[in-house]
Amino acid sequence: MNQLQAKVEQNVAYLIILTLLTLSIAMLVEILPLMFSNSTTKPIEGVKPYTALALAGRDIFVREGCYNCHSQMIRPFRAETERYGHYSVAGESVYDRPFQWGSKRTGPDLARVGARYSDEWHRAHLMNPRDVVPESNMPAFPWLAANKVDSAALPAKMTALRKLGDPYSDADIKGSVAATEGKTEMEAVIFYLQGLGLALKNKR
Ligand code: HEC
Repeated sequence: MNQLQAKVEQNVAYLIILTLLTLSIAMLVEILPLMFSNSTTKPIEGVKPYTALALAGRDIFVREGCYNCHSQMIRPFRAETERYGHYSVAGESVYDRPFQWGSKRTGPDLARVGARYSDEWHRAHLMNPRDVVPESNMPAFPWLAANKVDSAALPAKMTALRKLGDPYSDADIKGSVAATEGKTEMEAVIFYLQGLGLALKNKR
């Protein structure tokens, strides 16, 4: 063992500092390119920032913990693409904060659920899943039909998202209250679900 190596290995402070340095360089090499790569930072064709109603629906999806049972990430394996459609790509999720990829699948993946069912099907399903899928063990979410969307909160949410880079116009933000006023949380969640994954819907 040469002397320098002996010194580093016998002195815990040197060892910690040099280990951290090595790890930091490795992390920079792995992570930094992703922050500048178009495939991870730019939306793919057809992916737009959420409209006010879809954004409200997304927040309800997160609040209700739907992600505890539903991933939104189709892996690039044949069994998955045959069942759900095109595998997920990073450019689909650039407007998802936080993203909903996940890996928990008590229920099916929802990444391509948009336009798969009618609004009426979703409403019946969320009111009581067993009415449309008798063997379902998904919980019912009937209060969504009784609650109204918190319209007043939307301008602030959209302004915050704009600061993070989502291209909302002043008109989008101003119009968000009118676009969601009087809508039920049920309508918002269904609107959000119906828009999921459409950009790659018919691609294989
Ligand atoms: C405890 C687990 C669980 C939670 C929480 C849950 N689900 Fe489900 N979900 C399931 C299961 C299991 C199925 C499959 C049976 C069925 O269709 O009901 C399912 C099916 C679905 C389907 C149909 C998917 C398809 O491709 O057929 C949709 C849409 C859905 N859930 C939406 C939601 C939404 C929205 C929420 C939150 C408000 C939610 N789920 C919360 C377990 C869950």
